[in-house]
Amino acid sequence: MSKRFYITTAIYYVNGSPHLGHAYEKIVTDVIARSRRSLGQEVFFLTGLDEHGQKVQQAAQAEGKSPQAYCDELAAQWQAFAARLGITNDDFVRTTQPRHKAVVQAMLNKLHARGELYKAPYRGWYSWKEETFLTEKDRLPDGSFDPVWGEVKELIEENWYFRMAKYQPWLIEFIEANPTFVQPDSRRNEVLGFLKSQTLEDLCISRPAARLNWGIPIPFDPDYVNYVWFDALSNYYSIPVALGDIEAAAPLKGFYESEISNPKSPIRLWPADIHVIGKDIVRFHAVYWPIMLKAADIPLPKQVLVHGWWQKDGDKMSKTTGNVVDPLAVIDEWGLDAFRFYVLRELDIGPDGNWTDAGFRARYQAELANGLGNLVNRSLSMLKRYRQGIVPGRSDELSPDATKVVTDTRTLLEKNELQRALLSIWSLVTRANQYVDQTAPFKLAKDPAQAKRLDEVLYNLAETCRVLAVLLWPFLPDTAAKIYTQLGLTGTPDKFSAAAWGGVSAGHIIGEPAPLFPRKDV
Ligand code: ME8
Ligand code: MG
Repeated sequence: MSKRFYITTAIYYVNGSPHLGHAYEKIVTDVIARSRRSLGQEVFFLTGLDEHGQKVQQAAQAEGKSPQAYCDELAAQWQAFAARLGITNDDFVRTTQPRHKAVVQAMLNKLHARGELYKAPYRGWYSWKEETFLTEKDRLPDGSFDPVWGEVKELIEENWYFRMAKYQPWLIEFIEANPTFVQPDSRRNEVLGFLKSQTLEDLCISRPAARLNWGIPIPFDPDYVNYVWFDALSNYYSIPVALGDIEAAAPLKGFYESEISNPKSPIRLWPADIHVIGKDIVRFHAVYWPIMLKAADIPLPKQVLVHGWWQKDGDKMSKTTGNVVDPLAVIDEWGLDAFRFYVLRELDIGPDGNWTDAGFRARYQAELANGLGNLVNRSLSMLKRYRQGIVPGRSDELSPDATKVVTDTRTLLEKNELQRALLSIWSLVTRANQYVDQTAPFKLAKDPAQAKRLDEVLYNLAETCRVLAVLLWPFLPDTAAKIYTQLGLTGTPDKFSAAAWGGVSAGHIIGEPAPLFPRKDV
């Protein structure tokens, strides 16, 4: 059994509400997962929720619910959100699941046994009203704390620390020796810049259970619970172990016996191939996470792939100002694939993006309705009208163009260059639309002497539509399936190998053409 291509998203704060940024991250990860499956790899795609912490405990209390019941309700909404986005995750992790907690506790026990954890006084500015420590960042320009925090006092309490600081030289060396560990390069440089200019401190990983009980108990000190980031980051590793990845579990030998001697099912996932995350949490993933794993003698993930942040109309999205994009409202109005297309086509993985409704409409109209939609609709309508929907004999006129796009798209998908892959695919859409204009099949149809030429043109168009369906499947799965159906083909265009020219054969009868992206009057 071979190791699967294992890809993850960040896990979302359960008490946050799903927005454009979350949708984007899930879709980017989904397209990579689908691409790899299409290219023949076995894939495991994990997404999920970050459910512990003070804020969740407080919010549940405010609603008079148990924290678990509160999380369960929200988790159902998040899962419905992922389903609406067409996400093909193989599992859904929630950090309150026993399977996750058991692995986190095993990791903590191992680190403790190796002397990587110690207890020391933690000192900080504490808001009694909000029950949280504040940081220097929370100070107003005049140095005071905002009145919303109520009374803020310096508090000293004992906590557990992880010996992170001593790994700083190792991590610098590791990131320098592994240039693809953090991508894109701009983010890698940012991490190296930080590591070379600042001194890393040990990491506080606990809170007293008396104050915060909504967390994973520290197994060797029941007066404490584990504090968020250690718990959250571990999800990427806990699920492979819990699913019976024997090699993943091997470093926990002596701390997690049951699963090692009794794997539920053979599966090999760890190390992760790609962690997809946003730019605000790079430090946790590119500094804390590799050090945690190194200290526990667990292999490191291969890559942290960092995307930028969306704004709307040039401003930060914010629920309080109402400057938000509601992905589900957009999907209701324009369709899932139009939403997936816009976010992937508009924003490369790395830089920040800006959503505008006008930009969305412009791409819908030009690239989807007039570009792809028009090509498929007129190609199939003409085949129907002039040849009763019966595919003529094979002709290879567009084969070189299609074959080049197939090759280029494959290379780009293997590099996770999703935006450039779409550009490549659209170059074939444009080429084929030009071909219609140049060959003018509606004129050929009027001249019986041109019947052979019309056959050739119609074959090339039908076959190009089929190739496009295969190339589009990771990005626009519903549209790809519709093109196949309209072509009268059974099955799903989910195997990249099917993009080879010549797949549709003479005599095949197509289905009913219908607009893929209805034009909207706005
Ligand atoms: O940070 N544009 O969760 P989260 C693009 N639980 N991406 C955005 C975005 C925006 N405007 N806003 C947020 C957490 N994101 C932790 C993660 S992982 C072990 C724990 C992205 O719900 C953000 O960058 O606040 C992050 O990758 C993801 O949404 C989850 O954010
Ligand atoms: Mg956040």
